[in-house]
Amino acid sequence: MLMTSPRLKPHKTNIVPMTNSAPPSPFRSALDHMTPNVAAELLRYGKSRPDVISLAQGEGESPTPDFIQKAAMKALEEGKTFYAPALGLPELRQEIANYTAKIYGRDIPTSRIFVTSSGTNAINLTLHSILNEGDDIVAVTPIWKNLIGICEVVNANIIEVCMSLQNNRWTLDLDALFDAVTPKTRAIMIVSPNNPTGWVMSETEIKAVMEFARSRGIWIVADEIYARCQFGKKHAPSFLDVAVPDDLLFVINSFSKSWAMTGWRLGWIIGPQMAEDKIRDLALYQNMGPPCFTQYGGIAALRYGEDFIQGQMALWHTNRDIVSQRLAHMSRITFPIPDATFYAFFKVDGVTNSMQFAREMIDEVGLSLAPGSSFGSRCEGFLRLCYGVSTPRLHDALDRLERLCG
Ligand SMILES: Cc1ncc(COP(=O)(O)O)c(C=O)c1O
Repeated sequence: MLMTSPRLKPHKTNIVPMTNSAPPSPFRSALDHMTPNVAAELLRYGKSRPDVISLAQGEGESPTPDFIQKAAMKALEEGKTFYAPALGLPELRQEIANYTAKIYGRDIPTSRIFVTSSGTNAINLTLHSILNEGDDIVAVTPIWKNLIGICEVVNANIIEVCMSLQNNRWTLDLDALFDAVTPKTRAIMIVSPNNPTGWVMSETEIKAVMEFARSRGIWIVADEIYARCQFGKKHAPSFLDVAVPDDLLFVINSFSKSWAMTGWRLGWIIGPQMAEDKIRDLALYQNMGPPCFTQYGGIAALRYGEDFIQGQMALWHTNRDIVSQRLAHMSRITFPIPDATFYAFFKVDGVTNSMQFAREMIDEVGLSLAPGSSFGSRCEGFLRLCYGVSTPRLHDALDRLERLCG
């Protein structure tokens, strides 16, 4: 309806006003104002070129192990092809509860476990369930871009608290984190073990942040999808270790990395009991829950996957040491050695535009790495290399890197 002031009479005219401004966007303004995902753009660029080794994406080379594949194939053969419950099959929710008891020593009822179509979907559901447009959310950076992107979709304000390099180790300043929280803050978002840095939050830090959030009544969104990727540990310190059942805490997990299931799109959330209905409501309208037969693969992964995880960790450990040794001899590179994950996040002397440098690297030596600028506003000059690949492939990639940065 056309609203006019009572003193101004609307009048009709045939004159169409001349204007230079662009027509209004047919899309939500939040989508028009999203920051570009340069890592995704770089990945596409690398794939469009011949003979490029890509270590730009967070996955290894091994396909999903047989015992997981067979469980999903058996489910298909048995006709498990129908709609499944929006929060996951009861059998998988129970298996996640068993796994959490076995690995973390925590008893979580299945009503607090929500199966999702990937870790990304889990982040989406949690953030959509708590963020209003205009809310502040504090993000510890460097951070995987998608967590920021989803906040942008919701149109929340992202307040970055950047870790710094102290004695060549990534360090979180807890005072800076707490100072960033204002009455408008709805949540703190942390990825530990961290993509891209491999930093692991200590138990003391986790406890301090949990107590702080509890005292302020704000949420913690803890992305722990690399929980099983800390070298020499069964699992990295977790918010689950210090939380009580009603804490405003979402812990995100995924089958993608530890069980080599990136293509399956399967993950889960552990949250408070009161979130069950809200996450179900959202899941119903997002995709009606994860696919049915893949969840049987998830059950097998959790039940029989420990040897596979150990094998992967052994490879990543060897590869981390190779990367550390070889980067130490490349004069332009500063590399803080990661305690976890399969990422090397390093600074290249003289690089001021990591996206441009990453493109040049593809063009000149046929190596695709993720540009640092994708991971936070203070990550310019860095690159991320995924070393979760076979050792010969890694050496080939490092030879190429050496030609540019040696
Ligand atoms: C921190 C973090 N969270 C979530 C994801 C996404 O996991 P998924 O493949 O389950 O969507 C990734 C993928 O790289 C990640 O690094």
